[in-house]
Amino acid sequence: MSDAVKVGFVPFSAAPKGVLVVFSDETLKFGPATRKALGAAVETVKRAATASKFKGKSGSALDILAPEGLKLDRLIVAGTGKKGDLKDEDYIKIGGATIGRLKSNVEAVTIIAELPDGPLQPGQISSIASGIRLRAYRFDRYKTKKKDDDKKLTAQISLAVADVAAARKDFARNDQIVDGVLVARELVNEPPNVLFPAEFARRAAQLRKLGVQVDILDVKAMTKLGMGALLGVSQGSAQDGRMVVMRWNGGKKSDKPVAFIGKGVCFDTGGISIKSAGGMEDMKGDMAGAACVVGLMHALAGRKARVNVVGAIGLVENMPDGNAQRPGDIVTSMSGQTIEIINTDAEGRLVLADVLWYVGQKFKPKFMVDLATLTGAIMVALGTDHAGLFSNNDELSERLTKAGRATGEHVWRMPLGPEYDKQIDSKFADMKNTGGRNGGSITAAQFLQRFVDDIPWAHLDIAGTGMGAPSTDINTSWGSGFGVRLLDQLVADHYEDKR
Ligand code: BES
Ligand code: MN
Ligand code: ZN
Repeated sequence: MSDAVKVGFVPFSAAPKGVLVVFSDETLKFGPATRKALGAAVETVKRAATASKFKGKSGSALDILAPEGLKLDRLIVAGTGKKGDLKDEDYIKIGGATIGRLKSNVEAVTIIAELPDGPLQPGQISSIASGIRLRAYRFDRYKTKKKDDDKKLTAQISLAVADVAAARKDFARNDQIVDGVLVARELVNEPPNVLFPAEFARRAAQLRKLGVQVDILDVKAMTKLGMGALLGVSQGSAQDGRMVVMRWNGGKKSDKPVAFIGKGVCFDTGGISIKSAGGMEDMKGDMAGAACVVGLMHALAGRKARVNVVGAIGLVENMPDGNAQRPGDIVTSMSGQTIEIINTDAEGRLVLADVLWYVGQKFKPKFMVDLATLTGAIMVALGTDHAGLFSNNDELSERLTKAGRATGEHVWRMPLGPEYDKQIDSKFADMKNTGGRNGGSITAAQFLQRFVDDIPWAHLDIAGTGMGAPSTDINTSWGSGFGVRLLDQLVADHYEDKR
């Protein structure tokens, strides 16, 4: 993420140039550092506020070009709403919205991190800085002729703060988390001719630079393990599948790891049960779960999280060819359970079945969380703001829900239960890979549950949130990087050593 926007910190006293952004709430007052920076121009600003009926409402802004008496190109007064109304989770959006107001050609931006009641705290400043970096991200590698909207912001961005050292220290950790999100977004956005399984595995191996142990298993190794479910999906593609196992050991040696598993279908044509042409290009993002796991490992290793973590991703391409698997085929998963293939387009659960089983048996983790763009049905149920959460464990579910509220990466719990089993029982094998139209996301999760034993487990269906969701204050990218901040928060809140 070397070309991504960086954020610097300067003292309140530093003289701003270019664009200055200051905050005011509905009292329309300014804090002391802001008053000092504006000097006599405060009166100009007050007149402009009256003239444009600026009331300090949240999301509104007063925009003054070449303000009289100031050596600035532009002054933006951003409203923060009612006094004292801001919640911790709002600051990241403020950072994002601020960047959203700028054109790509600005050279320097200073943002005074102060509300009328006084300076912001390091955590709040870090959130603003995170929002800035997240919003500024553009995927433009393949645009040779850039229109203004495509251009990356190259401005030098400074947050003016009361305590520069404290702000830098706090943000160092958030900076790594943002890098992790951007790593995930980049992987989701890449086209499928570039990012096939072997290339994805090579990109994951970059984590070695951060001290992550990365093992790449090829078809031969997976055949030896008996991963018939994953390999059945992969066999119709000219690109061989891979499984990548990433390990970050930041915790005590004796501590069981936590584990994250991702669906990495680098392209999903549906296979022999082929999808219709409309929108099929979006299926390059069918590896958003795996991308999140790589981004999360980046964040955790980058900030040296005090926890042992396993990340495992199943990478395949689901293609129709003469060697592709057929509806009616019966495959044997690594767990020994047999699966009748009804629809080759229900491939994600087949990939996850073997990776979940492998991780559960090999690492006996404290918990497993898998992420997958698993079903179109989850979008019908929950839209694009909440990921579907399915779990065999109430505590893990509650922790995920809470982390979702704190990060704005929302999850909503859906049911599981033996009542759904009959939909996936098969006449010919232990189970079939689809359960019919009704409750499509639930029967998919119910299928996965058969491969987790009794390990606390949660499945996040991110088909609606991981890609193609509408833009927000902190994301305008097609690949959202959903899940990285959520799961980093889960780990930070509950699973790190307090040394
Ligand atoms: N990758 C798709 C799910 C998907 C659809 C993700 C749209 C993102 C956007 C998955 O492999 C799939 O094809 N699921 C089928 C399952 C069905 C055949 C039981 C679906 O949802 O239609
Ligand atoms: Mn599919
Ligand atoms: Zn798929």
